[in-house]
Order: sequence, then C-alpha cells, then structure tokens
Amino acid sequence: MEMSMNSLYSPAKEKAAARGLYRSPVLIHRCRKVLKVKLLLAICVIFAVFVIAGRTGSLMGWNPHPSSSVSSPSRGGYTVLINTWKRNSLLKQAVAHYSSCSRADAIHVVWSEHDPPSDRLKAYLRKIVLSKSQSAHKPNFRFDLNKEDNLNNRFKPIKDLRTDAIFSVDDDVVVPCPTLDFAFTVWQSAPDTMVGFVPRMHWLDEENDAVTYYNYGGWWSVWWMGTYSMVLSKAAFFHRKYLDLYTYQMPSSIHDYVNKERNCEDIAMSLLVANATGAPPIWVKGKIYEIGATGISSLEGHSNRRNKCLNDFVSLYGSMPLVSTNLKAVDAQHEWFW
Ligand SMILES: *[C@@H]1O[C@H](CO)[C@@H](O)[C@H](O)[C@H]1NC(C)=O
Repeated sequence: MEMSMNSLYSPAKEKAAARGLYRSPVLIHRCRKVLKVKLLLAICVIFAVFVIAGRTGSLMGWNPHPSSSVSSPSRGGYTVLINTWKRNSLLKQAVAHYSSCSRADAIHVVWSEHDPPSDRLKAYLRKIVLSKSQSAHKPNFRFDLNKEDNLNNRFKPIKDLRTDAIFSVDDDVVVPCPTLDFAFTVWQSAPDTMVGFVPRMHWLDEENDAVTYYNYGGWWSVWWMGTYSMVLSKAAFFHRKYLDLYTYQMPSSIHDYVNKERNCEDIAMSLLVANATGAPPIWVKGKIYEIGATGISSLEGHSNRRNKCLNDFVSLYGSMPLVSTNLKAVDAQHEWFW
C-alpha cells in the first residue's frame, strides 16, 4: 500500500501544479482543438485561392478534372436488376436510363404480374436499350418472368449472368450513371458487402429493457445520428451469390413472412448479408431521383410494420446480425475540401 502511494507521488508535478504550470490532459486537449481550428482556417484560405485560380484558368497547366475517370470498361460491369410491378411508364424510363450507363452489362426486369409483358412492351424496350446505350457493347436485355406475385421474386437467382455485381433497383429510382459507376468501384473494393444509396439504421430501445426490442430508423434518424446499419435494395450493389443465399439458404419462414406482408424483403436481404459477413454495408454519397409518385414508405403505419419486420427477423436469427457504421464513401473528384 505504502509503496504504491509513494510511486504515484511526484514532487515535480506537485510543484508545477502549485505554480499553475502543470497542464492537465484536458487543457492540452483544448489547446489542440484551438490549433486544429486555426489550421483548418489556414487550409480554407489556401484552398479558396486554389479553387479561384483553378476556375479562372488552368493552374500551372494542371487540369483538376482528368477526362479518364477511375473506370474502364475492361474491368467488368454490373447487371441492373429492376423490380417492377404494374408501372410500365416508370419501367420504360428506368430501362432507358440504365441502358445509357456504359458499364451496365445487362438489364434484367423482374416481372411478377399474372399476365406476361405484351409483345409491344417487349419490342419497345428492346429498341430503347439499343438506341440509348452509349457503348459499342450493347447491354443484354431480359425479362425474368414469374408466375406468382411474390416479393421474394426480386432476389431469385438468374441463369447465365455474366457479372458478379448486381445493381438492385426499384423501377422508380434513377441513379445518374457517373454516380452508379462510382458506387460500382466502391463495391469492387468490397465485393462481399452491400453498397448502396439509401441508408437505414436500427437501435436498441432503451425503455423496453425487459425484452430486447429494436427500432428501425429512417432517413431522418440516419441524418441525425450519422450512423446506419443497412442500405436498402431499392438502390444497392451486391454480389450475385446473395441471390442464391436469399433463395436457398435463408430460413423459409422469412420468405413466407415477406410474401405475406408484401414488405421487408430489403430488411431480410440486409440481415442476410450482415449475417454472412459480420460487417456493415457501405453508404455511397450521391444524388438519386425517385421518379414515381410517393411509394409505400409514405403509407401510414409503415414505420410500425418495418419495426415489426426487423424484430421478427432478428428473433428468427436469434441475435442481431446488423453492424452499425459511420463510414460514407464519397467521390474525391467532387469534394472541394477534404
Ligand atoms: C448466419 O450465418 C451463420 C454462419 O455463416 C449460418 O450458419 C447461419 O445459418 C446464418 N443464419 C441464418 C438465419 O441464415
């Protein structure tokens, strides 16, 4: 006892403290903060000068926007998997748009209506794909027909896929091609991960401590907390192996649930990937456009249903597989400050 107390005692420290010279860690921390702010301000000023110089003329012959971007067609592409239901005009717009993305290797439309698509629609879309595509290589276009209207259809494995990357998207969501290509390069650096544009979060309900209850958080929660643990399959890349896992390995009780509730296939996919990887998804910064009228998320009671899905699925898993993160991938070419 005596020994250890002695070893903590430092005459130099005490003297310094008496003269007010001894700096507590808190004080040092504060000084660092002030330094940091000053440094940031200095960088701001320097950067403003560079930006102005760069805008008015090329700075020392240096072109800040090289024409060749990170992507090159030889490094592969992705398959766009569009889920649609009785919205042909939206489907036409979506197919036209994604055909114009040069790295789209194929476009598949998941069709779950009772009647197959009309010959007219098929011919129209084929023509659109050919006319809109920018590259010499025209994307493959195909309908994947399903007899029954089941939300699980959107994750059915596809035969003869030429790419490992699937970009899963709703028929009313348009992601500009450069944004999409950037997200694809993010996916290429983490091909087991879901990479997408629509983040969602979960958190443990503190008030409900008798039972483990999770809350599902929408866009505002993510914005407020800066944290997320899912990216929705309405606009996300994932590896094609997850189509197999979803269809053949995931507990069939989850399939039944999704089919019955006509909802939550995206939460099921997020849980599946998180359970398989033990890692969070990646949210990519980028503007996306919803071209249709307001969808299901504006229906009343939507958030209660999502809460219920999340909790029911988690109890099926036996534990919470989702992993939270604060990471956001941004295109450095578009950041003026970093
Ligand atoms: C979660 O992952 C583990 C390990 O990969 C696997 O054994 C288990 O079946 C998965 N759980 C579900 C519900 O899919």
